Amino acid sequence: MRQTVLPSVFARTVRSNTYATLLLIGAALSACTRSSGGAGDSRIPPSGPPTDPAIPERVAAKFPNDWRLPAGQSATFAPQVMAVSNSMDASAAATEIMRAGGNAVDAAVALGFALAVTWPEAGNIGGGGYSVIRMADGRIATIDYREIAPLAATRNMYLDEHGKLTDKSVYGHLASGVPGAVAGLNALLERYGTMPLSRVMQPAIRLARDGFIVDSSLAGSIARAKSMVTRYQKSTPYFPNGEPVPTGTRLVQPDLARTLTAIAEQGTAAFYRGWVADSLVAEMQRGGGIITRADLAGYTPVWRTPIRTSFREYSLLSMPPSSSGGVTTAEALNILEQYPSLPAYGTTRWFHLVGSAYQRAFIDRNAKLADPAFVPVPLAQLTSKSYARQLQGTINDTRATPTQSLEPQMQALPREPEHTTHYSVVDAAGNAVATTTTLNNSWGSGVWVRGAGFMLNDEMDDFAAQPGKPNMFGLVQGEQNAIQPGKRMLSAMSPTIVLDRNNQVLLVVGAAGGPTIITGTSQVILNVIQHRMNLADAMRAPRIHHQALPDSLTFEAGGIAPAVLDSLRNMGHSMRQLRALVNVNAIMRVKGGWEGVPEPRRAGGAVGY
Ligand code: GLY
Repeated sequence: MRQTVLPSVFARTVRSNTYATLLLIGAALSACTRSSGGAGDSRIPPSGPPTDPAIPERVAAKFPNDWRLPAGQSATFAPQVMAVSNSMDASAAATEIMRAGGNAVDAAVALGFALAVTWPEAGNIGGGGYSVIRMADGRIATIDYREIAPLAATRNMYLDEHGKLTDKSVYGHLASGVPGAVAGLNALLERYGTMPLSRVMQPAIRLARDGFIVDSSLAGSIARAKSMVTRYQKSTPYFPNGEPVPTGTRLVQPDLARTLTAIAEQGTAAFYRGWVADSLVAEMQRGGGIITRADLAGYTPVWRTPIRTSFREYSLLSMPPSSSGGVTTAEALNILEQYPSLPAYGTTRWFHLVGSAYQRAFIDRNAKLADPAFVPVPLAQLTSKSYARQLQGTINDTRATPTQSLEPQMQALPREPEHTTHYSVVDAAGNAVATTTTLNNSWGSGVWVRGAGFMLNDEMDDFAAQPGKPNMFGLVQGEQNAIQPGKRMLSAMSPTIVLDRNNQVLLVVGAAGGPTIITGTSQVILNVIQHRMNLADAMRAPRIHHQALPDSLTFEAGGIAPAVLDSLRNMGHSMRQLRALVNVNAIMRVKGGWEGVPEPRRAGGAVGY
């Protein structure tokens, strides 16, 4: 275990024992939940059609001189509907469906299936995800279609004979959980949509059958995945004869078109019981995977009651466990809300307080959250304002707090965040859907299902494959999230809808990037609510990340002014620089309509009318 020597100034001012005591008291007092969630469909007052948002005037943002994404750019504006995702073609699929009379849910499902075609590194039918839904008539819900561990999974399945972690939770056939995306999207459509599945899947089928043009972002992603994917299957549509398709290629995916057509015609059963299921199981058997027909036939998505929290006078609806996204976002924002106002964006104190809030929220995330069907999860405690007040009391105003002194049992190695994808959709009635979906790593496990034409996830790595040891993201998670058959692995996905004080949708937001999903999503929310940035600036603003372990404050190159960086180091923060953090896609209600902004650090498209 790593030894930490506390600086004397720290020992005088921060009471690590106090923190441990708070955790114990909080755990004892909190009402633990041991359920798979509620029915999911609760209500808030209906909003009626969108009106102008109840928010103060926006304030021009100022970023450091060396920051590569200048402030003051504009967003895509549309008066009625908007869809934003990492693929312009997929966003256009959503607006095509809304033009044909569909609502935001019809459009989101169309977008989800289209992303499986046009953004195959993360859009998927071989993975899983979460959606948060807010209907203009007041209904709110979330649906959890996270993958589950196969029935044959065991706690130590990724350890070698010496007890060391292998990379089999990340690469190859054994890395996959039972996919949930098809069941989840269909359940979402059935409950809140207005169109048949066969209609909303038409854009996706067309894109797979007739092809679409590969842009430089997708071509780069394909090229980077070459060894990972061709190792299991030499020739796929992305690597005909083993070589990556270049930018400008029309990418046609006939096997995927056939699979999507079967789902469109026969519904969920086509994926979980028919020839597609046979293809998936045959693929498993070819490579030593353990997903069986019984696993597929038994998969069910879960409707859950949203995490409802507030920041200042705004309400947030977000994802409960099996994702940690909503709880950890609520906890971090609750800590920050204890300050009557936050320091100006970009100052030393701002980075210190925001990073320290994330650090504390992630300690709880990593140790206490997991699938509520398997372990008790102290939701009420972790999301309470009084608990946040106690945590805020552990933040020293002028010194970083070593994570070891707050939570000494764990250690970690740094890892770069990888991918997932988020999309946001709103319609003219004011219905909104925030969906985050993933294969985990970009291109998942690297395994492409022969005959059915889709990539499989490597979501098993989101379990604590060896509790107390870091996963692919460097996240050190506890026993709560250990592998058990049928269990959902803990996620960081944070699809979130923010409402103004009139219950009108203000923001629809979420992100890709492993644990940085939580910090990236909540910083866009903070930038809009606290710093009154417009959406374009809120998305371009430099981001930071802290996940407790590794005990470092990660920042984007050029995103912190040099003098501020010096101050943060002198306060005891271990500063870690990355080129880019997080891939967010967001929509904001503005006067007369919606603004959409796809991630400026990556590819994407905002399409509206
Ligand atoms: N696979 C990333 C996440 O669910 O957090």
